[in-house]
Formats: sequence, structure tokens, C-alpha cells
Amino acid sequence: MRVLVVGATGGSGRAAVEALTARGHEVTAFARRAGAAFREDASRGDTAVRTVDGDATRPADVGRAVRGQDAVVVALGISEHPLVVRLRGSRGTPMDVRSRGTAALVAAMREHGVPRLVVQSSYGVGETRDRLPLSSKLVFALLLRPQIVDHERQERVVRDSGLDWTIVQPVYLTDGDEAAATSPAGDVQGMHVSRRAVGGVLADLATRAGDAGGRCLAVSGAAAPAAGDPAPSPLLGSGHASGDHERTRRTRGARLG
Ligand SMILES: NC(=O)c1ccc[n+]([C@@H]2O[C@H](COP(=O)([O-])OP(=O)(O)OC[C@H]3O[C@@H](n4cnc5c(N)ncnc54)[C@H](OP(=O)(O)O)[C@@H]3O)[C@@H](O)[C@H]2O)c1
Repeated sequence: MRVLVVGATGGSGRAAVEALTARGHEVTAFARRAGAAFREDASRGDTAVRTVDGDATRPADVGRAVRGQDAVVVALGISEHPLVVRLRGSRGTPMDVRSRGTAALVAAMREHGVPRLVVQSSYGVGETRDRLPLSSKLVFALLLRPQIVDHERQERVVRDSGLDWTIVQPVYLTDGDEAAATSPAGDVQGMHVSRRAVGGVLADLATRAGDAGGRCLAVSGAAAPAAGDPAPSPLLGSGHASGDHERTRRTRGARLG
């Protein structure tokens, strides 16, 4: 499949690019400096990634990247330190980049007939807002509020898009190797999950590995498998019951399963 990854130079976006190319998909990496960021990969002979330098809030840039794709993954964010952003505002990135960029992408996808949209938001936004632990509610209120407000707007854009969408809500991201558990019911296991594993989730969802669409998926750090647990499936890991809720799925590293 042809998949556009927007925010491809960030932690999650890059992980999604790696997971998609590892699965043999044709990936276009989009960010304001995507060419420079992926030049090193290209010099290693990795020609699977096409790059487009562009601003996600500019319809013309977005249009030329979206045309001809089968699916779009959005991992837009503000790369600056959140405390600096909270105190002084972001320097090079608009505070509403997530919602504005996603709105521009939705418009381009509708225009060019690209059906599948996977958007990374955050656990604690929208339908999981009330499920956030108290300590994280404080972090959201004091440190992240303007960015969370924009995630709320972004999720509304996605839900109203009329596209075949999935919203992915990870807990705190790390650069480690924690496996991921996904839950449509909003259940979480550990409150940390690796960008690498989240990249695998984004890749599988974009290429429709077992996803129904039109739903929100919480992604958290998976508990270590107990002895005797079934081996993960090649797609979305081994499902296991989580109370009365829908299945929670576990996956390891960048590859789901
Ligand atoms: N950090 C966490 O613990 C956590 C937890 C849950 C959810 N999230 C959410 O997950 C998302 C991704 O987080 P991350 O830490 O992986 O991302 P990140 O490292 O902050 O990367 C953000 C990406 O967005 C791109 N970008 C920003 N403005 C752009 C623009 N105008 N046009 C094109 N590209 C633009 C950046 O590239 P350029 O700047 O080079 O253009 C970069 O590729 C964020 O929305 C974040 O709120 C984060």
C-alpha cells in the first residue's frame, strides 16, 4: 500500500515509517524538513521512503503529498520541550498545528479520494478524558493544557471527516522498547509505551490489519506475558480479556506480533 506519514521526522512518525517500510509498503515521509532527516537513510541505499518537505497547515503542500496515497498516518506534534512551550509558547510551530494540519489533510484526502486516516492523539483526550489518573490530570491541566485543547479539536476534525478513520491514543511515550497493548475500550496497562511499538500499531492500522475503523484505540505499555499465554498473532498480537471490556491486544516492539 501507499502510505503518507505526516510528522515523519518525530519520534512516533519515524517509528511508523520504519514499521511500514519493514512490512514492504510504499511510504512517503512528510515534514517541514523530511528530506534532510531521511537523507542518511537514503545514503544507506534505503530507497523505499520518498520524502516531501512541506507544512501540514498549507493546503498546497498537503495536496501534493496526499494525491495518489491509499492511507495517511498523522503524528503531528510540537517537538519543543513542553515546559518551554507552556511558559513562552512554541517558537517554530503553531499551537494549533495538530488540528489545523489534520483539517488540511482531511480536505485533501476528500478531494483526492484517499479513504483511510489514522491519527495519533493522546490518552486522556475525548472519550478517555475521565479515565486519566489524577497525577496525569494535573500534568495535563498545568503543563500540557493548550496542546491537549488542540488534540480535542483535532479529534473532532477526525470524527467529522466522513473518512475511514481510527484515532490512536497512546499513554506517555518513551524511546525504550516497551511492548504495546491496544484497547478500544480505553483500558490501559502500563502508563508508558515505546514510540517504536506505537509506530507498529500505526502501521498496522493504516494498512487495516484487523481494524474496523471509526473508533478510538488506547495504546499502553503491555504487562509482561504470563507463562502459558498464547503466542501473539502475526497481526495485532494475542487478544486477552480485560474485565467486561472488549479485547485488549498485546504487541511487542515495532512489529505487531
Ligand atoms: N510525548 C508523549 O508522551 C505523548 C504521549 C501521547 C501522545 N503524544 C502525542 O503524539 C504526537 C506525536 O508525538 P511525538 O513526540 O512522536 O512527536 P514529535 O517528536 O514532537 O514530532 C512532531 C512531528 O510533527 C512535525 N511537524 C510539526 N509541525 C509541522 C508542520 N507545520 N508541518 C509538517 N510537519 C510538522 C515535526 O516535524 P518538523 O518540525 O520537522 O516539521 C515532527 O515530525 C503529538 O501530537 C503528541 O501530543 C505524545
